[in-house]
Amino acid sequence: MRKKIIAANWKMNMTQGESDSFLETFLLEIGDEKRVDIVLVPPFTALARVSDGLSKVQNIKLGAQNMHWEKSGAFTGEISAEMLRELFVRFVVLGHSERRSLFGETDEIVNKKTKAALEASLKPIVCIGETLAERDGGQVEQVLERQLRGSLAGLSPQQLDDTVIAYEPVWAIGTGRTASPAQAQEAHAFIRGILAAMSDNATAEKIRIQYGGSVKPANTAELLGQADIDGALVGGASLDPRGFTEIIKQACTLLG
Ligand code: PGA
Repeated sequence: MRKKIIAANWKMNMTQGESDSFLETFLLEIGDEKRVDIVLVPPFTALARVSDGLSKVQNIKLGAQNMHWEKSGAFTGEISAEMLRELFVRFVVLGHSERRSLFGETDEIVNKKTKAALEASLKPIVCIGETLAERDGGQVEQVLERQLRGSLAGLSPQQLDDTVIAYEPVWAIGTGRTASPAQAQEAHAFIRGILAAMSDNATAEKIRIQYGGSVKPANTAELLGQADIDGALVGGASLDPRGFTEIIKQACTLLG
């Protein structure tokens, strides 16, 4: 059984003060829930503050939204894996569609970052997903396979097992338009098949594949009830501590 993983991608939101208020409510609401893995992914400037806020908490992990693949050096504006590790960051989101479309990240770049993250013992959350034009053009499988093979090239089965995949159809991100559970399941099953082809069946069965794109409390249970959907990467709805708690509770209802 794959343990579900629910992550809050705050994007460019939340000052340190706002993240304090979030945590104050969220920690009370969520208690010691540990039936699913919970990850908070603040902007870089709030990482240290949230890390402090989580220092006495066992069941909530910290993630970052990006990193550079080099260890150090003349890379103005960038952040290394070691800098994240120092703040007790455990996960790092890589190749989010906003990074790909707005900041020119290619599969090759995502691959370098993924390898560097794994070498530094950070667990990458590697994002893939098609645009609306690609879906309408019947290219979903081609796009997902290209992104997977490119972003995860050269990873060992053990490294793949330490990686989380986030399937985020670009047309569903921040649009209020969610993939139907059947559409999402179809993509997730396809992704798992490619992962098996890249490694082996046993490895592919262990890898967690999150769905992302307008996830909210009302659609969580039906999405996460699908056989190959192992969690959610939540943007907008993760900014509200009560709403995010409700998403986690909905995921837990599936566990009986
Ligand atoms: P959304 O964002 O939940 O606001 O659609 C998801 C994401 O981009 O990770």
